[in-house]
Amino acid sequence: MDTKGNGALDGAAREYYGEFLRDYPEYAATLKLDRVRAEEYPRLDRQGHIYLDYTGGGLYSDSQIRRHMEFLLSSVLGNPHSSNPTSIFTTEKVEQCRKAVLDFFNAPPEEYVVIFTSNASQALKLVGEAYPFRKGDRLLLSFDNHNSVLGIREFDRARGAITEYVPIVPPDLRISDDVLLSYLEKGSRDQNRLFAYPAQSNFSGVQHPLEWIDRAKALGWDVLLDAAAFVPTNRLDLQKWRPDYTAVSFYKIFGYPTGVGALIARRTALEKLHRPWFAGGTITVASVQADQYYLAPGAEGFEDGTPNYTSLTAVCMGIEHIESIGLDLIHTRTECLSHWLITRLLELKHGNGEPVIRLYGPAERRMRGGTVTINVYDRKGTVVDHQVVEQEANKWKISLRTGCFCNPGAGELALGLSRDEMIRCMNFPGSRMPLEVFRQCIDGKSTGAVRISLGIASNFTDVAQFLRFAGGFRQD
Ligand SMILES: Cc1ncc(COP(=O)(O)O)c(C=O)c1O
Repeated sequence: MDTKGNGALDGAAREYYGEFLRDYPEYAATLKLDRVRAEEYPRLDRQGHIYLDYTGGGLYSDSQIRRHMEFLLSSVLGNPHSSNPTSIFTTEKVEQCRKAVLDFFNAPPEEYVVIFTSNASQALKLVGEAYPFRKGDRLLLSFDNHNSVLGIREFDRARGAITEYVPIVPPDLRISDDVLLSYLEKGSRDQNRLFAYPAQSNFSGVQHPLEWIDRAKALGWDVLLDAAAFVPTNRLDLQKWRPDYTAVSFYKIFGYPTGVGALIARRTALEKLHRPWFAGGTITVASVQADQYYLAPGAEGFEDGTPNYTSLTAVCMGIEHIESIGLDLIHTRTECLSHWLITRLLELKHGNGEPVIRLYGPAERRMRGGTVTINVYDRKGTVVDHQVVEQEANKWKISLRTGCFCNPGAGELALGLSRDEMIRCMNFPGSRMPLEVFRQCIDGKSTGAVRISLGIASNFTDVAQFLRFAGGFRQD
């Protein structure tokens, strides 16, 4: 059995590892990542963490931090909105990072613009608030969009446009091509129609076809791709796929810096957006007396105020770190580990034959990422509250995620919460309802699930330990 470079393998992991390597021969090519983990992420094993929340946040390497600190300690950075030497230096660095982002996504600069934002949500909001919705226009959302995409409906609703949702179908939680087409055929070419979907669901790990981009555009739709959960472990080639707007958060890819994301927009699509306001940094000229302003061209017109320029300079270093490892290796590794874990979890049975785990999303390898969402059941088929699972996991120093992960549509369909139930439980007075009130209303049903997600520093021990943890819920 080859445990080289995966020295943290303990008894449980060692038991399965040889078989795993035989079943997933392509994993051998990724063994380099065990060394990367030991050298770049030593704090995980030093502190005994089993980190399984990469869809929540990626992890940074030691060298990213060292390089960035050295850069900050040896540089004088001024506010980029001036033309003095320190400002010019900062501007040059920020522009280098903008170019690095374009290169990372293979996005030709003559076709695309990178707008730096504080995160993916801010990028999505830039589109939502500026998309020229009018009465009768359309917003088409997939059911499994993140809240930060769903929230766009409030902009289109305020202007009289129509929101529709394409359903995902349990148990795989995918969308049928034909059903999608029937929604895309609605409306007419003289309307503004925006179709927004995630390249990878942060709930189920489902990867929706990127072919939908061309299909929707051919029918006259503008396409907003939420790539936040997809890009940490998958290559997104914007020369091959041409969404009008793409949203990402960099901390999800390489952990550091937080507070920086991007909207990568096609230049022609950017012209379609009408910003609802102007701010410092976004104008060429504004006047109080003339009551007029002119927006700056390109990205500048969308970057409100002073950009997060000290952090921005770390984005290039993060990209270089990923490129030095190879995104394809990270992809292969998370694919092998997650598929093995899913298969083994589904094999766990109570003494009476009842399953310990129910999976929400596809069990197959095809078109899915390393995000695995489950619930644990007892031998009578009653769900173990996801909060109880989390409390137990905490004792093992396992970091996982519970709840509905800001993805209410996928949660509702996966957990079998009907429209009527949701309407009944969502009539609390005022605009703020405590979660407990909702949980009590929906009594008897699970209101959330348990999510495990893999990424750059995941190793076999992580998934073997989780399997052992899940096996602890088995009853004779
Ligand atoms: C699919 C997806 N979209 C959007 C977001 C929002 O990202 P952020 O919180 O960085 O703005 C997330 C965050 O988890 C996500 O997974």
